[in-house]
Amino acid sequence: MPSDTNIYKPIKAKVERVIDESPLIKSFVLVPEHDFSFKTGEFIELSINGYGEAPFTPSSSPLDKKKIEVTVMKAGYVTEKIHALKPGEVVGVRGPFGRGYPVDKFYGKEVVILGGGCGFAPIRSLLYNLIAEKEKFEKVILCYGSKTPEDCIYKPFVNELRKVERFEVYRSVDKADGSWNEREGVVTVLLDDINMNISNSVAIVCGPPVMMKYGTLKLLEMGYPETDIYLSMEKNMSCGLGKCGHCMMGKYYVCKDGPVFTFDEIKDQPDIWL
Ligand SMILES: Cc1cc2nc3c(=O)[nH]c(=O)nc-3n(C[C@H](O)[C@H](O)[C@H](O)COP(=O)(O)OP(=O)(O)OC[C@H]3O[C@@H](n4cnc5c(N)ncnc54)[C@H](O)[C@@H]3O)c2cc1C
Ligand code: FES
Repeated sequence: MPSDTNIYKPIKAKVERVIDESPLIKSFVLVPEHDFSFKTGEFIELSINGYGEAPFTPSSSPLDKKKIEVTVMKAGYVTEKIHALKPGEVVGVRGPFGRGYPVDKFYGKEVVILGGGCGFAPIRSLLYNLIAEKEKFEKVILCYGSKTPEDCIYKPFVNELRKVERFEVYRSVDKADGSWNEREGVVTVLLDDINMNISNSVAIVCGPPVMMKYGTLKLLEMGYPETDIYLSMEKNMSCGLGKCGHCMMGKYYVCKDGPVFTFDEIKDQPDIWL
């Protein structure tokens, strides 16, 4: 549900903390002017006065109504302004928007998560949600890939996740260095290392388009049904409300019908991997 009666009007949120995650990625802990609720996988529009707004999926726990954390990769005009934010400054937040992860459909199953680069942001929020209900899942396996060891984000969170019962974490980098003692190779190689019961499993994929494509193809090849592969789609967005049409992917408004879709829902739409 929109957080204000005027869905176009942002609420104010103060930047409490800025965390350097990697050379191109920073996280921002925001304190909204009043409690803010979202479901994991839904997104917000974050605005900077005088510069514009951009969509981001919160990377924080959906159970925390007092704070919202967003993890932002520097990509262009607005994200560059966001990267320059300092604690104490104020931003605007609209939302939450869209359709997030249907966590209740994952109950009783193994959840395999394939993430790449900044695609870890929505996944971290999902993981917080899964941890809070961990007895409801058979097991949760995170496979995360980035370009180099220094591009791996959320290092403290990953260390904590490794200690959580029923959770397994595997990481790969495209190019390793002497500091790296995990897998080298594109993230899909991790799927060769894990044990899962595909007939009682769902897969979640989030990352750059090329990774989403090859991740999905590999999961299909492994035998995952199209209905059990969940993709978090990113398209250029403006209104976030199913009005402007900027985000259209075939018959779908990604902002309203997504951003989370099963592969089965979108496989016949044009340009899904662009
Ligand atoms: C639902 C949703 C959730 C998102 N969540 C996150 C997140 O958690 N963290 C994060 O870092 N980014 C996220 N993004 C992407 C983020 O919104 C874009 O990087 C941002 O809008 C770029 O704005 P800009 O003004 O800095 O770049 P611009 O100056 O507008 O563009 C820079 C370049 O990025 C391309 N671009 C612009 N918007 C997008 C987009 N939406 N997807 C792909 N390429 C784009 C442009 O074509 C151009 O090549 C999300 C996008 C969507 C749709
Ligand atoms: S962003 Fe305007 S219709 Fe989806």
